[in-house]
Amino acid sequence: MKTVAIVSALAGAASAAQGAWGQCGGNGWTGETTCVSGYTCTKSNDYYSQCIPGTNTLVTSTKAATTTTKPTSTAGSGGAQPTSGAGGKLKWLGVSESVAEFGQGTYPGTYGKDFYFPDNSAVQTLISQGYNIFRVAFAMERLVPNTLTNSLEPRYLANLTTTINAITNAGAYAVLDPHNYGRYYGNIITDTNAFQSFWNKLATQFKSNSKVIFDTNNEYHDMDQTLVLNLNQAAINGIRAAGATSQYIFVEGNSYTGAWTWTQVNTNLAALTDPQNKIVYEMHQYLDSDGSGTSATCVSSTIGVERVQAATKWLRDNNKQGVIGEFAGGANPTCKTAVTGLLDHLKANSDVWTGALWWAAGPWWGDYIYSFEPPSGTGYTYYNQLLKTYM
Ligand SMILES: *[C@@H]1O[C@H](CO)[C@@H](O)[C@H](O)[C@H]1NC(C)=O
Repeated sequence: MKTVAIVSALAGAASAAQGAWGQCGGNGWTGETTCVSGYTCTKSNDYYSQCIPGTNTLVTSTKAATTTTKPTSTAGSGGAQPTSGAGGKLKWLGVSESVAEFGQGTYPGTYGKDFYFPDNSAVQTLISQGYNIFRVAFAMERLVPNTLTNSLEPRYLANLTTTINAITNAGAYAVLDPHNYGRYYGNIITDTNAFQSFWNKLATQFKSNSKVIFDTNNEYHDMDQTLVLNLNQAAINGIRAAGATSQYIFVEGNSYTGAWTWTQVNTNLAALTDPQNKIVYEMHQYLDSDGSGTSATCVSSTIGVERVQAATKWLRDNNKQGVIGEFAGGANPTCKTAVTGLLDHLKANSDVWTGALWWAAGPWWGDYIYSFEPPSGTGYTYYNQLLKTYM
């Protein structure tokens, strides 16, 4: 989850426009800089911009900020390989549980004030309706204070473990999500050995629970692309060396792991290796104009499928499995159609897509536009019936 800056529209340029998926910018680029109708010139890095389906905005990545503060309205209250075969069923449908990572920048922070843990009764309500995967966000700075090679802080670990076990004991999968954007105390993690050691320690705690999934890190962004590859590989190596061999590992990419920019940014991640062959490429996709997931307005009723189809092809061409680890739309008919299109597409391509997780549930989201917290979250009340049809 992130915010992005929007540079104003390119509409009105007189020259011919670049076609779908064509290059439209980058250092030294002298060709067309506008896109045909329905496509957006989207910057992937200083050297390459591409025409991607969507309206006329330029997207530039900026600092993640969405969960740095909690909403005030309710503050303080509170085995087998993934499904194969096109047209099959999604293996996973669930939500992110977001609250233990709140209070970003305030470490360790105060339990009940800066951060909290998911509400188990709300989680069980979702499980009883069929949701079978929960991505539990947490802050690395609280789990390993001060230095990345430190031992795990026992009280935060105990609370996190209680949350995870309540999910997996009920038969669902629990994703451990260090919600850190490839950073630790705000600095890009460059010490891959320390990162491997962190994952080795964490995986050791959960190595006998096959319903746990390890998510290397939330939304790497504005980082060296080889470093993103190396951090993901270090995590995999640390996890497997711990003896955690039965679990899936979700890897994430640069540029906030966006599905819509994946094929321009993250193709080097195809080189990741896992002796257990249980890597799943986690991508995020929002449907608002800048793809940031900060607006209840979706670009169009078809934007869901448009923004993921290139990633679908990449997964299949590279014989990989993927998951949409974050998606959402506002509570309105255009978004509902776009979300339906997205999920229909994932289901129709379930040889490569394993599932999807809504952003987000948690006890502190209040009246947030996407809140999936039962019983009255805006997203939950509007989308629960629809999402249940994909289980
Ligand atoms: C863990 O949860 C308990 C309540 O069950 C709370 O009192 C404590 O402060 C929490 N500690 C941390 C570090 O999360």
